[in-house]
Amino acid sequence: MSIKVENITKLYGEQKALNNVSFEVNSAEIVGFLGPNGAGKSTMMKILTCFIPQTEGKAFVCGYDVNEESLEVRKNVGYLPEHNPLYLDMYIKEYLEFIGGLHHVKNIKQRIAEMIEITGLQAEQKKKIGALSKGYRQRVGLAQALIHDPKVLILDEPTTGLDPNQLAEIRNLIINIGKEKTVMLSTHIMQEVEAMCNRVIIINKGEIVANDNTQTLQHSQENNQYIITVEFDKASSKSALKNIQGVIDAKNTKDNIWQLEVSSSSDIRPLVFQFAVNSGLAVLMLNKEEQKLEDIFKHLTKK
Ligand SMILES: Nc1ncnc2c1ncn2[C@@H]1O[C@H](COP(=O)(O)OP(=O)(O)OP(=O)(O)O)[C@@H](O)[C@H]1O
Ligand SMILES: [Mg+2]
Repeated sequence: MSIKVENITKLYGEQKALNNVSFEVNSAEIVGFLGPNGAGKSTMMKILTCFIPQTEGKAFVCGYDVNEESLEVRKNVGYLPEHNPLYLDMYIKEYLEFIGGLHHVKNIKQRIAEMIEITGLQAEQKKKIGALSKGYRQRVGLAQALIHDPKVLILDEPTTGLDPNQLAEIRNLIINIGKEKTVMLSTHIMQEVEAMCNRVIIINKGEIVANDNTQTLQHSQENNQYIITVEFDKASSKSALKNIQGVIDAKNTKDNIWQLEVSSSSDIRPLVFQFAVNSGLAVLMLNKEEQKLEDIFKHLTKK
């Protein structure tokens, strides 16, 4: 077990940022940590990286207690904080040497060269951090998180503000890192979670509302609304289609293609097929849209 969180509560004065949160993350897993603004994501990450103490509960990283064995935790964790604070007046290599020094990294020059290559900083490596674009600063943030070869990476919104090309590159970089290391990342971009994460933890107002395999969550019946697209060979009518059990609305999008808005805990495609048979229509296409993570997120966090 790489990360184990047991009944963590965090109070900032009167305000409860985390309420009795528990979860586990296995090794070599990429976990997406999702939640609306102010849900408590950064707070949880700061506790796991020994930046702030929890009010109640226990947290372990690689088996080490974040309060009692914080030095061991810090050796095993690479952390990219929210807003990625960097020393803008330092050169990239100088900064990485400084961070590597804090971690007593051996063969530091070679390690820096490796980090620069892994994070794609070669072309910019002679620059001061202050002269770098946002995406390249983010790469420096990743390089400093990786320099001591930690087993666990905690990345707080690693891809905010990146252009689509950089986004794709950083995503691939994280997927590659995730093959060997445990990665926990927070993001507001749902496609990112779909593309990168094996597991999703959704947090709302300091409480966990979902913790599941990404695909299981998408196929879960928690949110019973979905869309069916159907094409017939001849015309049909909205009123007739709305008679199919589970169909709450029908829109004629093009020629004889219909979008059916469905509310049902089961797959009603057989009923649509039966409707066609009974109405003397041939089915040319019948498609159930996979639930989007975004809809599940909205459903779980609007409460
Ligand atoms: N240092 C602090 N002092 C007081 N309250 C704080 C402090 N840090 C965070 N909070 C509060 O705790 C709650 C959780 O904040 P947190 O930053 O963990 O949310 P988040 O999920 O990371 O949000 P975002 O998506 O906006 O980054 C918020 O209501 C926030 O205002
Ligand atoms: Mg945050």
